[in-house]
Amino acid sequence: MPPPAVLCLCFCLCARAAAFARDGDYTIAGLFQIHSLPPRAAARPQVDACDDASAFRSHGYHLVQTMRFTVEEINNSSTLLPNVTLGYDIYDTCSESANIHATLRVLAQKGQHSIEMLRTFRHYESRAVAVIGPDSTKLALTTAAILSVFLIPEISYEASVETLSLKRLYPSFLRTIPSDRQQVKAIVLLLQRFRWTWVALLGSDNTYGRSGLEALHELLSAHDICIAYRGIIPSNKDASSPELHHMVRILMDIRVNVTIVFSSKQIARPFFEVVVQENITGMVWVGTEDWSLAQTVWHVPGIQNIGSVIGMSIKQTESMILKHSEPWKSAEESASSTGAGGGNGGSSRESTQLNCTQGCTGCRLLTTAPDEYDTKASYSVYTAVYAVAHGLHNLLGCASGACSKDRVYPWQLLEKIRQVNFSLHENQISFDANGDILKGYDIIMWNWRGPGWSSDVVGSFSVNPDRLSIDQDKILWHTKDNQAPVSVCSQACQAGEKRLQHGRHRCCFSCVACPAGTFLNRTDLYACQPCGRDEWAPARSEACFNRTVDFLSWADPISWALLTPIALLMLLVAGLAVVFALNISTPVVKSAGGKMCFVMLGALACACSSLFCYFGEPTRLTCLVRLPLFSISFTVLLSCITTRSFQIVCIFKLNRKWPALYEAWTRHRGPALFIGGSTAVQAALCLLAVSASPSVPRRNYGASAEQVVLECSQDSSQSATATVVYNVLLSACCFAVSYLGRDLPENYNEAKCVTLSLLLHFACSACVLTAYGSHPGRPLVAAGALNMLCALAALLGGYFLPKAYVVLFRPELNTAAHFQMSIQRYTRRRAPP
Ligand SMILES: *[C@@H]1O[C@H](CO)[C@@H](O)[C@H](O)[C@H]1NC(C)=O
Ligand SMILES: *[C@@H]1O[C@H](CO)[C@@H](O)[C@H](O)[C@H]1NC(C)=O
Ligand SMILES: *[C@@H]1O[C@H](CO)[C@@H](O)[C@H](O)[C@H]1NC(C)=O
Ligand SMILES: *[C@@H]1O[C@H](CO)[C@@H](O)[C@H](O)[C@H]1NC(C)=O
Ligand SMILES: *[C@@H]1O[C@H](CO)[C@@H](O)[C@H](O)[C@H]1NC(C)=O
Ligand SMILES: *[C@@H]1O[C@H](CO)[C@@H](O)[C@H](O)[C@H]1NC(C)=O
Ligand SMILES: *[C@@H]1O[C@H](CO)[C@@H](O)[C@H](O)[C@H]1NC(C)=O
Ligand SMILES: *[C@@H]1O[C@H](CO)[C@@H](O)[C@H](O)[C@H]1NC(C)=O
Ligand SMILES: *[C@@H]1O[C@H](CO)[C@@H](O)[C@H](O)[C@H]1NC(C)=O
Repeated sequence: MPPPAVLCLCFCLCARAAAFARDGDYTIAGLFQIHSLPPRAAARPQVDACDDASAFRSHGYHLVQTMRFTVEEINNSSTLLPNVTLGYDIYDTCSESANIHATLRVLAQKGQHSIEMLRTFRHYESRAVAVIGPDSTKLALTTAAILSVFLIPEISYEASVETLSLKRLYPSFLRTIPSDRQQVKAIVLLLQRFRWTWVALLGSDNTYGRSGLEALHELLSAHDICIAYRGIIPSNKDASSPELHHMVRILMDIRVNVTIVFSSKQIARPFFEVVVQENITGMVWVGTEDWSLAQTVWHVPGIQNIGSVIGMSIKQTESMILKHSEPWKSAEESASSTGAGGGNGGSSRESTQLNCTQGCTGCRLLTTAPDEYDTKASYSVYTAVYAVAHGLHNLLGCASGACSKDRVYPWQLLEKIRQVNFSLHENQISFDANGDILKGYDIIMWNWRGPGWSSDVVGSFSVNPDRLSIDQDKILWHTKDNQAPVSVCSQACQAGEKRLQHGRHRCCFSCVACPAGTFLNRTDLYACQPCGRDEWAPARSEACFNRTVDFLSWADPISWALLTPIALLMLLVAGLAVVFALNISTPVVKSAGGKMCFVMLGALACACSSLFCYFGEPTRLTCLVRLPLFSISFTVLLSCITTRSFQIVCIFKLNRKWPALYEAWTRHRGPALFIGGSTAVQAALCLLAVSASPSVPRRNYGASAEQVVLECSQDSSQSATATVVYNVLLSACCFAVSYLGRDLPENYNEAKCVTLSLLLHFACSACVLTAYGSHPGRPLVAAGALNMLCALAALLGGYFLPKAYVVLFRPELNTAAHFQMSIQRYTRRRAPP
């Protein structure tokens, strides 16, 4: 902050008074741009006066009239600030220096015309209690910075730049125009709505354009919209400028179909003149609130051919325009009639002071009819004045019926203004924590279908929460087929294809199908994600599917096909046991092994019951038990048959050749030893297998992509193979012994049957062993169980069934006499001739 002495000096030098003024209990200052500085080169350094009639701006003038009207309306009101009159000072901020001057005027202490030493800010009572304006971002930044020192409330109606929301820097700044932050959000939603992801971005060369561009750039990148080109439209150029032509040619070269122009209207005009000259057609132009309704832009000759213009404009209710326009016009009338002499307007100082006002004598002649943009800005001014009035109303305690008319320090008023919440023509007016008004935008579209230019409201953007709604039916695209144009770098990929980015733009990509086992999550289109372990996916998939769980369930038809014979087999075993028990003393049963038969039948039953472990979901118990149980039982069975065959061979053949051997075999309980021994070996092998790698249930994911196979881990391990091999060896042994006895008497001779059984068993095993290498799963488990079942059934059928047949149906063969006879016949045959 400059020292007070400097302020004072500056103030004395430029002793200008307000252009329009009216006294009141409390004064509100208004900063409006009524003239603009014409671009002229000064011959010597000089301060420009705001009095050039040729640079008169009717927009500012309309706003001034709005402020006058509003203050008057509040003054007349009996409910708002009763018995309190508001005054106003209006300044023309045609240039930066004029703006600073006006700001300093506002700061003048009440009742005086110069700034004195500022002892304490807290008790500083300025001439104006609040400031409305100024309009442009550039001027507002200066004013806001100065006024913030004294916390004098400043409410701008047109400065939308986001920086001003920073309350740390500009604590006393508020505004009745939404911050550009909102506008940027609305534009991004608009682009998303039409899926325009490949756009050009242009901003004007001033604070408005540059900061808007910056904010847009940031937000667009966050939303996966790519900026094909980003440019700054130079200011102070006219349509013949080569720079502008160059920029527009670039736009044509990059072939985007959508261009966002974040520009103030003065800079947008020459740009669009160049666009028309370069014959650009069919483009979509997204406009910001400042130029999208500005007459100066749509007045450009030939602009109707540039394509579709869709833009933002400050939201406004219809009723407001209607209610407001009538008195506004009358205010305008009165202004023009009072300008000359200051008759009834109370503008006593007006004529004696600034030449600007004399310029305004002819103001009515200079002004153009207010357009929509003027109306909207006027409403912002209207709102701002009302906000001050409501703040004052609360501060003075007018709610009780009488206002206190106390001394008002600006910081007190600022506090109240920030809290106001009132309704104005059915709109609820309040400020957010940043001092920004809570207000949305209308989405408007230019319409050239009629005789001239008009604009349609095609949608709206509402804040808190941010929401964009577009009415498709109202949109008239200026394209050949009346369809919404597309603007994308690469066409979207087919379902299940990921994007492979080319270069630095995410929007430019080629498509690659996701391989099997991965899927494309819609939330990330640039990578295929692997499926979970229990899931699978085909190529080009957008989802994973659960793998089917594969195991031999109890309910499976295959299971039934196996369980039925197993059950029958067990019944048969039980039946045989009963038959043999009843006929234990008959020769056939004795020759079959006598009591050993029951051991064999028991082993068979055990082996059979082990088959049940192959059905249902594998559990720790079934996995652990099924192989050892079967192997050991089967070993017992084979050992018994071997012993029995060996014994018979001994009796008939070895006994005669080596009687001592047979003697030793029977004396030392050979059969029991052999059976016990071989079973022990098998048991040891099983124990080894279990301790080396205990069989546990596991999920096999490798078998196929779509399935997870539930199996026991040991099914194909080496130690498990050892037990099988042992049984095979034992079978071979059994086979050999049986084969030796092939020529024995018929009723001792089961060699043929046992041989056949064992051959069958070998064949089955061979089949299953070759199948082991192939696809695991249900069929394999079933095949394994079937193999065991066949082996058991074959042995049962080969060994026990012929005997049971004789016992049951040929009792005449089941006699000691018959056996005697056949032995004699055999010995006779064997006897040497
Ligand atoms: C306000 O109204 C009073 C009378 O109600 C009038 O005397 C005064 O001039 C008005 N002031 C303004 C600024 O309109
Ligand atoms: C305020 O009241 C005065 C006199 O009563 C009237 O002439 C003027 O039009 C009113 N102004 C507004 C804005 O209502
Ligand atoms: C307005 O002020 C006048 C005198 O200043 C007083 O007579 C009148 O009662 C006041 N009216 C209200 C509503 O306070
Ligand atoms: C634009 O079109 C007009 C008339 O069709 C033509 O005279 C002019 O040369 C064109 N300009 C460019 C830059 O192509
Ligand atoms: C205003 O301009 C007129 C000429 O247009 C001049 O005669 C007059 O002195 C000027 N007034 C002031 C206050 O500068
Ligand atoms: C303003 O008041 C209205 C009702 O009077 C309420 O719904 C709204 O939430 C208030 N707004 C704020 C910002 O306090
Ligand atoms: C622009 O629009 C044209 C015609 O509709 C289309 O062929 C072209 O692909 C579009 N360009 C982009 C970048 O989308
Ligand atoms: C896609 O990714 C999101 C976020 O990473 C996640 O919440 C969602 O569950 C995923 N969808 C699928 C189908 O996996
Ligand atoms: C996949 O399996 C999970 C749990 O295993 C289950 O919650 C989900 O519903 C299954 N999904 C489908 C599509 O069956």
